[in-house]
Amino acid sequence: MASLTIRQLDEASKKRLKLRAARHGRSMEDEARTILREASEAGEDRATPPERKKSARGTHAVPAPGVKRVLLIVGGGIAAYKSLDLIRRLKERKIAVRCILTKAAQEFVTSLAAGAIVGERVFTDLFDPAGEFDIGHIRLARETDLVVVAPATADLMAKLAGGHANDLATAVLLATDKNILLAPAMNPRMWSHKATQRNLAQLKADGVAFIGPNEGEMAESGERGLGRMAEPLEIAAAIEAQLKPRGALTGKRILITSGPTHEPIDPVRYIANRSSGKQGHAIAAAAAAAGADVTLVRGPVSLSDPVGVRVIKVETAREMLEAVEKALPADAAIFAAAVADWRMAGEHTQKIKKSGGKIPELSLTENPDILATVAKHKSKRPKLVIGFAAETENVARNAKAKLAAKGCDWILANDVSPATGIMGGDRNTIQFVTPSATETWPTQSKEDVAKMLIERIATALSGAKA
Ligand SMILES: Cc1cc2nc3c(=O)[nH]c(=O)nc-3n(C[C@H](O)[C@H](O)[C@H](O)COP(=O)(O)O)c2cc1C
Repeated sequence: MASLTIRQLDEASKKRLKLRAARHGRSMEDEARTILREASEAGEDRATPPERKKSARGTHAVPAPGVKRVLLIVGGGIAAYKSLDLIRRLKERKIAVRCILTKAAQEFVTSLAAGAIVGERVFTDLFDPAGEFDIGHIRLARETDLVVVAPATADLMAKLAGGHANDLATAVLLATDKNILLAPAMNPRMWSHKATQRNLAQLKADGVAFIGPNEGEMAESGERGLGRMAEPLEIAAAIEAQLKPRGALTGKRILITSGPTHEPIDPVRYIANRSSGKQGHAIAAAAAAAGADVTLVRGPVSLSDPVGVRVIKVETAREMLEAVEKALPADAAIFAAAVADWRMAGEHTQKIKKSGGKIPELSLTENPDILATVAKHKSKRPKLVIGFAAETENVARNAKAKLAAKGCDWILANDVSPATGIMGGDRNTIQFVTPSATETWPTQSKEDVAKMLIERIATALSGAKA
């Protein structure tokens, strides 16, 4: 049936279909099917009332709290195909994406392909009445944390520099109150043209950020030079940097450990403790929210990774120490993990067998002391080294002794007796111990403890008295 339809087309339409099919790497029949499907979906879009459309197609999911959103405008250049990979890279980083394709961009990638990767409809038309009722151009411009144009064509740069707004992409760029990041891509002569360079200078003066272009081979012409779009991974990194909140710890590197460690007895059994990782994870989230560059080294926990944090997963104390040393230097290191003090002395490479009522002797040896190792580090000691002390008696006295023995700056001590419910619970009561004083913080959520600690760290790192 499809081939019958194609045979009946006039020569010009056949030629156009052949070109389109070649561009998308499809057979002419498949291309015709795609066109029909897109046309019927577009028809459905116009016929469906906005309120139904919203729920029926799940077109614009609201991102979970803390998840950042990027509005990606794809311009009409060969590099548009790389933007599909960029969308994937952003989603890997848990960044929500909405996508606008310019009219020219749709010559290079289909809205079907972009929509499939984004996971919701893409936006193409300023004068789409359904779109204006649904998510109009003003909402598109505002309901985002950052607007990214990739590839940014010479044409889009010129329009933005000149304040044009005659299509969806440019109207959104003019209407947004968010930062704009452009990833230009064009022929080297177009890039070095006085007009483009004039527009570049104007856009920079207007506060627009740029990533690339890079030097290299041009896909379409075989020419070399400056004009290749930055690679998707480079653009993703620039987006992450733009999305980082500005706060009291902007520019600071913070290292945090969290959770228990598991020390193997044999290949199936291990020594563990009841640490949930909630306090360490809350500190990592609070540090990231304050703008810090955060590395979280965490033992086995069932918590999800905090947003905007580099997470390194380890099992044992020795792995944790290795990961911590690799993550140095840092401005502050907070050791909230409940590291096992001991591990098995010998290696059991096979499961220990039950044999005739004989109880195996578990001989233990001491694990490395991560807090003391970092606090006494010769070349890479962070300016602030902060430990946690989990005590079941004489909390403040033991914490003071630990502070002196380990050589750290502050200890946050808590009473982890089962009756307190702190281990694994959501609330914490901290005794904050420094060489000169001990404070008792009010019982509060672990998130509030984290915020209080991050404020103290920010004050101390700024040089003011903590
Ligand atoms: C095959 C082909 C490749 C193109 N590649 C680029 C490009 O890489 N960069 C660019 O600025 N323009 C490129 N253009 C020109 C743009 O598509 C054209 O300026 C268009 O109007 C841009 O529209 P937009 O900026 O709304 O997406 C190309 C055109 C064609 C036909």
